[in-house]
Amino acid sequence: MNLLTSFLSLATIAHTQQLIQAYGNLTLPPGDTTILGNIYNYWVALPNKTFDLTRALYLPTTTPVTIPMNGSRKAAIIEPSRSALVIIDMQNFFLHPDLNAKATGGRTAVQPTLNMIEGFRKKGMPVLWTNWGLDEYDLLTIPPSFLDGFSSDNSPLTTFGSEMGMVNGTYAGRTLMRGSWNARPYGPLYDAQVKGVADGTDFYFNKNRLSGLWGAQTPLGLYLQENQITTLFFGGVNADQCVWGTFLDAYYKGYDVVWVDDIAATTSPQAATDMVRYNANLDGFVTNSSIVLSALA
Ligand SMILES: *[C@@H]1O[C@H](CO)[C@@H](O)[C@H](O)[C@H]1NC(C)=O
Ligand SMILES: *[C@@H]1O[C@H](CO)[C@@H](O)[C@H](O)[C@H]1NC(C)=O
Ligand SMILES: *[C@@H]1O[C@H](CO)[C@@H](O)[C@H](O)[C@H]1NC(C)=O
Ligand SMILES: *[C@@H]1O[C@H](CO)[C@@H](O)[C@H](O)[C@H]1NC(C)=O
Ligand SMILES: *[C@@H]1O[C@H](CO)[C@@H](O)[C@H](O)[C@H]1NC(C)=O
Repeated sequence: MNLLTSFLSLATIAHTQQLIQAYGNLTLPPGDTTILGNIYNYWVALPNKTFDLTRALYLPTTTPVTIPMNGSRKAAIIEPSRSALVIIDMQNFFLHPDLNAKATGGRTAVQPTLNMIEGFRKKGMPVLWTNWGLDEYDLLTIPPSFLDGFSSDNSPLTTFGSEMGMVNGTYAGRTLMRGSWNARPYGPLYDAQVKGVADGTDFYFNKNRLSGLWGAQTPLGLYLQENQITTLFFGGVNADQCVWGTFLDAYYKGYDVVWVDDIAATTSPQAATDMVRYNANLDGFVTNSSIVLSALA
């Protein structure tokens, strides 16, 4: 061994000794090529394009469920106690016919969303309502591109925080401010949210950008972290904007992401949905509420 290689091996040992020990000395079985990831976050790839997402080597399991998928990954085995339904922006502002006549896809998604809520609650899997819910501080810090993008006439008078006045006999409040009527979940979803939050099966999170998981931390992100949630099923509006923004951030942060086709919708051109579906399939899983609900039943 020459001087350089012996120096290098000493350096390697010194470096190795500084590594933090895995919790409880847990290690993954060495040489197992079905394992994707590390002890803290991994999938097991089964030979039939089914992925075990339970992290059962270091986290407790209850009764894992196999959910068939409609994408190139054919199924996922999920741990119900670490899986949740994330519903994005199914709010009056985006769905009420008096405020957004063309949101027919979003209104069609209401019934399958209610079905999913019911199925998740039955399994004790949390329903996580994640909605625009601005406060005065958000209005001070939101960027100009957002203000203009949400304005109908390039003016601060018709964007976030502006007075919406009466909408067919109802005071709509200020645009997407938390607590306002326009920021409430639409139609029967509002009753579902109120009941679920009161019963403790559902949780409500305000967001102040398209994504509910942007930046270092958000109310939704903190909940997921504190409850060791690993696997997220997504629905809401608009599929290519707020749902996609949150889905991507969840993927970036290491959550398993499941796109549920018929509970997500958009008013954007078809190309937007095609892009989202194409990439959701690459980033995670694609499925359908009827498929999920049959598997959970
Ligand atoms: C980890 O292993 C070391 C060395 O075998 C042992 O001293 C220590 O108690 C173990 N820690 C835990 C949490 O099991
Ligand atoms: C693949 O195999 C696993 C384990 O045997 C099974 O649970 C799963 O349902 C299978 N997936 C498909 C798509 O048949
Ligand atoms: C998704 O579902 C449709 C309708 O059942 C089916 O035609 C298609 O083959 C499925 N795609 C994949 C990739 O499983
Ligand atoms: C106003 O509200 C009433 C009662 O909810 C409804 O029947 C009617 O269609 C609404 N009108 C418009 C213009 O949306
Ligand atoms: C998806 O769900 C809808 C009902 O919400 C159903 O009509 C459709 O057939 C389902 N598609 C697949 C591929 O299962």
